[in-house]
This record gives sequence, C-alpha cells and structure tokens, in this order.
Amino acid sequence: MKILILNGSPRKNGKISRLLHTAEKALLEKGDSVTFIDVSSIIFKPCVGCMACRSKGSCILPQDDAHSIAEEIKNCDGIIAGSPVYWGNINGQLKCLFDRLVASMMGESKLGLPLPLHKGKKAVIITSCTTPFPFNILAAQTTKAEKALKEILGYSGFKITRKIRLAGTKGMKEVPESALKKARKCVKVF
Ligand SMILES: Cc1cc2nc3c(=O)[nH]c(=O)nc-3n(C[C@H](O)[C@H](O)[C@H](O)COP(=O)(O)O)c2cc1C
Repeated sequence: MKILILNGSPRKNGKISRLLHTAEKALLEKGDSVTFIDVSSIIFKPCVGCMACRSKGSCILPQDDAHSIAEEIKNCDGIIAGSPVYWGNINGQLKCLFDRLVASMMGESKLGLPLPLHKGKKAVIITSCTTPFPFNILAAQTTKAEKALKEILGYSGFKITRKIRLAGTKGMKEVPESALKKARKCVKVF
C-alpha cells in the first residue's frame, strides 16, 4: 500500500509530528510505502479562487509543491492527515494546501455537486489541542477540526476509519503511550 501522511503542524517535534512519525514507522515496518509531507516545509501559493481547476482538472497556478502533492494524492492508496486545533479548526497551512488540491480530490457535476475521486480509499485523522477532555468535545474543539477534515476527505471519497484525538496538551511533555499505541494501530486500517 502507498500511504500519504500530511503533517499540518509546523512543530516538527510537536505532538502531531510524534504521532504521525509513530504511524509512519509502523507502516514502514509492515512493508507499506510511505510519503511523509511536513506542510510547513513545502512551498506553495494559496488558492486564488479562479475555479479553472474545476474545468481543467488541475491547478493553473505556476508549478509548485502543491502540484507534486496533488500527484501523490492521485497515486496514494490511503491518507493519514494530522492537524493541531487552531481556533477550533484545522491549522491554516493544512487548509491552504487542501484548497490547492481540490482538482486532485474531487470532480464537479454540471450542477456543481462534488464527484469523489477516491472512493474505496481509507483515511485516518489525528488532532491535538490544549483544551482538556471532555471540554475538547463539549466546546467542539477537536470535533470541529475533525469535521473540517471530514468535509475535505469525505467529499473526496475517502472513508475515515480511525480518529486519534490528543487533548489537554498544555504542559504535556510526552505523548502518552495510549495515544502512540493508537497511532501504531494505523497499520490495521490500510
Ligand atoms: C494559533 C494557535 C491557535 C490555537 N487554537 C487552539 C484552539 O482553538 N483550541 C485548543 O484547544 N488549542 C488551540 N491551540 C493549541 C494547539 O492546538 C496545541 O498546542 C496542540 O497540541 C499543538 O499540537 P502540535 O504540538 O502538534 O503542534 C492553538 C495553538 C495555536 C498556535
């Protein structure tokens, strides 16, 4: 299996990075092929909203890293997307990237309805936030970030089969073993 991992967090030693690298290690040990993208390390322009990708099937902006990731998405068998919760949502860099990837993820009917391009593929989503449990759920911090990822991946045809939620990260030095164990279990999804 060819798995694409998208790390929204700009913190390379942060919680999301730790969880995603743990999943990556387990997938590599299983024999899967893994592409790990730190979204904060790639260079791409934000979407300009021209909508040309809807008719052309690809983004018309000058070639940049978003075009390469669009190819990775087309060719992957599954995705793991990780994001810290920023303002009760996914973080900006990851959202900006997904805005550039629309044409590689969904088509559009004549009426403007989404046509998923990745039916049959699976996805795992991982979030992290300072708000402690159960307030991350009651105050819809984790859940709104998950909803945003579901909006993007779901309309693209990916089935979200696992969610990993790390809450209460303020002052947390290490990611708890229970969460790392869940990250390792991603191998069972793909
Ligand atoms: C700009 C910004 C906005 C944030 N907004 C929220 C928020 O709305 N809710 C929350 O619980 N935590 C929020 N946080 C805290 C992060 O979600 C938290 O520190 C997270 O564990 C970081 O994950 P990382 O170590 O993988 O980057 C925010 C952090 C930043 C930098």
